[in-house]
Amino acid sequence: MIKIAPSILSADFSRLGEHILQTKEAGAEYLHIDVMDGVFVPNISFGAPVYKCIRKMTDQFFDVHLMIIDPLRYIDDFVKAGADNITIHHEACDNQIQTLQYIRSKGVKAAISIKPKTDPHVLKPYLPFIDMILIMSVEPGFGGQSFIPSAIESVRVAKQLVEESGYNIDIEVDGGLSAKNVDLVTSVGANVIVAGSAVFGAPDMKRAVAEIRENGDKAYCAKL
Ligand code: DX5
Ligand code: ZN
Repeated sequence: MIKIAPSILSADFSRLGEHILQTKEAGAEYLHIDVMDGVFVPNISFGAPVYKCIRKMTDQFFDVHLMIIDPLRYIDDFVKAGADNITIHHEACDNQIQTLQYIRSKGVKAAISIKPKTDPHVLKPYLPFIDMILIMSVEPGFGGQSFIPSAIESVRVAKQLVEESGYNIDIEVDGGLSAKNVDLVTSVGANVIVAGSAVFGAPDMKRAVAEIRENGDKAYCAKL
């Protein structure tokens, strides 16, 4: 079974609380929280104080995606604000394994992400230290972009590395996903699906989440 992680970057921030409750009612298990610093990516979003406020509204899994350089400096803040998982980028620092170990030492799950052009084989040394791999299927920085098909091969390689390692590691994909193309990544092993505009831009959020789940699960289960 796949999990759906609506990215709140695409929510209407004047109605953030209401929108989050809608994602919960729609059955989304995760909330994907995109933190951007304007340095690692050419955009600034929000930080820990924003999601700390919504932490008390929902028991959904807080999947925090850090698109910031030198993330170790801020891990304490993100943990205190209520993260359940913290994802850092392979490309964003030199002390990735130390940072992943620090995240886990705080009782929070740790994940590593790669940008679309990064060779997925770089993931191998991280496997003992992570709970999830995040494959970016758009250049990080903005919601609403088109899916980059080379991500499919990256998911395939990541899945193979995970299977060979014997670790229990989720594979998440982020960017340009909807009910129309989710099967492309779940059919090769992705089991956590981020969707921003496809969820928050849909006329009927419940239906959008249900369709992503149905199409994603069908292809995921066919692989098993
Ligand atoms: C992009 C973010 C994504 C983005 C996804 O840098 O990491 O999480 O919000 O939005 P959609 O689903 O609209 O591509
Ligand atoms: Zn993201």
